[in-house]
Amino acid sequence: MIRLLVGILVVVINVIYAKRPYPRFYVLETVARVPYFSYLSVLHLYETLGWWRQADRLKIHFAESWNELHHLLIMESLGGSNFWADRVLARATALVYYWIIAGLYVVSPKSAYHFMELVEEHAYVSYDKFLKEEAEMLKTQPAPEVAIQYYTDGDLYMFDAFQTSEVVEVRRPAIENLYDVFVAIRDDEMEHVKTMHACQGPLDLKAVASPRKVAAVEVPTSGELVGDL
Ligand SMILES: [Fe+2]
Ligand SMILES: [Fe+2]
Repeated sequence: MIRLLVGILVVVINVIYAKRPYPRFYVLETVARVPYFSYLSVLHLYETLGWWRQADRLKIHFAESWNELHHLLIMESLGGSNFWADRVLARATALVYYWIIAGLYVVSPKSAYHFMELVEEHAYVSYDKFLKEEAEMLKTQPAPEVAIQYYTDGDLYMFDAFQTSEVVEVRRPAIENLYDVFVAIRDDEMEHVKTMHACQGPLDLKAVASPRKVAAVEVPTSGELVGDL
C-alpha cells in the first residue's frame, strides 16, 4: 500500500509534468509537505488526550514542514503555481494524502514514516536529475529573493531543527544563483530522508533529536508508546 501511494504520486508528478519542471516541483512540494501536518495532528491529539508526550517529534516535524514551505514558496516564485489547474490538482491531492497519512500514522507510525522516506527519496532523485540536466541554464538565472532570505538571513534555528542525522558541521548553503538554490533544496530532501529513516527506529530521543537540542531545555516525555514504534 505504501509503494502504491508513492507510485501514484510519482506517476502524477513525473508523467503529467514531464516537460514542466516548475509546476511539477510545485505539486511535489504542496503534497510532500502534508504528511508532516498529519504527524503533527495525530501527535497533538495524543498529547491532548494525555496518552503520549513527544515534544521533540512535534518540533522536528514542524521544522520539516517549515523547510518544505520554503521549497513551495521558491517554486511559487518561479511561476510553478501560475496555472489554476495545477493549483487545484496539488491541493486536491494534498487533501487526500493528509487523511490517508493521518490514518496510517494512527495505525502504524513506522509505515507512515516509511512512506515519507520514499517520497523524500523520490524528491531527492528528481532534483538531482533536474540539476544534472539543466545545470548550465540554472547557473545563468538569479536566485529568488525568498531563497536568499531563507538560506542566509532567515530563521536558521528552524533550518537546523529538521536535520537530525549526525551533524558534523552545520549546513549553511551559499546561494549565488538558481543552481545553488536547487542544490540546497536537493540536499534538504536528503536530510528529510535521514530524519524519516531515524524516526522508524526505536524511540530513542538521542537518535531523533535536532542538533539544537543540546542547547535547549530538556522537555520530559511521558506515556506509553503508541502503534508499532
Ligand atoms: Fe521539498
Ligand atoms: Fe521533501
